[in-house]
Amino acid sequence: MPSTVELMSVPDKIVRNVNDLRAAVTAWRRDGKTIGLVPTMGAIHVGHLSLVTEAKSHCDKVIASIFVNPTQFGENEDFDAYPVDEARDVEELSEAGTDLVFCPGREDIYPEGFSTVISISGVTAGLCGPFRPGHFDGVATVVAKLLLQCLPDVAVFGEKDYQQLLVIRKLVKDLNISVDIVGAPIIREDDGLAMSSRNRYLSKEERALAPELNRVLRSVANAVIEKPDDCERICSLARSELLEIGFASVDYVAVCDMNSLELLKIYSGSARVFGAARMGTARLIDNIPVT
Ligand code: PAJ
Repeated sequence: MPSTVELMSVPDKIVRNVNDLRAAVTAWRRDGKTIGLVPTMGAIHVGHLSLVTEAKSHCDKVIASIFVNPTQFGENEDFDAYPVDEARDVEELSEAGTDLVFCPGREDIYPEGFSTVISISGVTAGLCGPFRPGHFDGVATVVAKLLLQCLPDVAVFGEKDYQQLLVIRKLVKDLNISVDIVGAPIIREDDGLAMSSRNRYLSKEERALAPELNRVLRSVANAVIEKPDDCERICSLARSELLEIGFASVDYVAVCDMNSLELLKIYSGSARVFGAARMGTARLIDNIPVT
């Protein structure tokens, strides 16, 4: 016999508070089901949906969360402009096989008097860390809350935000949170641009130039294989090339160890190339393995 949750229509798949979430999770647990979580901030695209597919391959039931988390946005970032279309998001997530969409209110995540911040050192020191102060504290804190609210067996995160994925792996290891963190590959447009909710900020001209970030990172990866002890110069040339192409600014192009994110001057295997650059008002990030 299908459970109550399975009989619900699309809008009824939404739960808006922790009590209703726990009721659904408890019912699934009683039926012996395993549960996967896909945390998102909405503005759902095919990259997000691939995480749902990945979660479904590991678990019986999939919860996707939608919460635009204010604490991970800096003062001059796009929190107020962040695209919100809950009805469309829920429909797309449902079509992809999400069983329940958790849309907590702000009070469910940050109730009056909330005063806990989870701050992770090490993997947050480089790349986006210095350019987005407080960002990873916000991410770690909200993800810890979502994991403890949903209590999933598996949670899936995209390699698109590779540094975030490592932050979350560290979070669950350090705090003994009982969940398997699964990383999923980056989904790209046909021209190589990594899919992102922020791509919709790009004008037509900017959208045409944006895939150059991925092309330049790929050329860095090839160059590093050719000249493994020349990482710094190769990245410096790549930064200049991005500026010449029309990126407004380049936060970094860097070759880093894929586990520690330590900046590498000499490539000796297990590395990724990371880039962050601004095209118009959009801050684009991307990364690829050096293979
Ligand atoms: P958001 O940017 O909505 O991304 C949600 C998840 O989708 C993240 O795990 C992200 O890495 C993944 N994702 C985004 N674009 C992708 C792509 N092109 N291919 C594969 N995966 C992709 O990341 C966040 O939200 C937030 O920081 C969150 C973890 C929800 C905490 O607030």
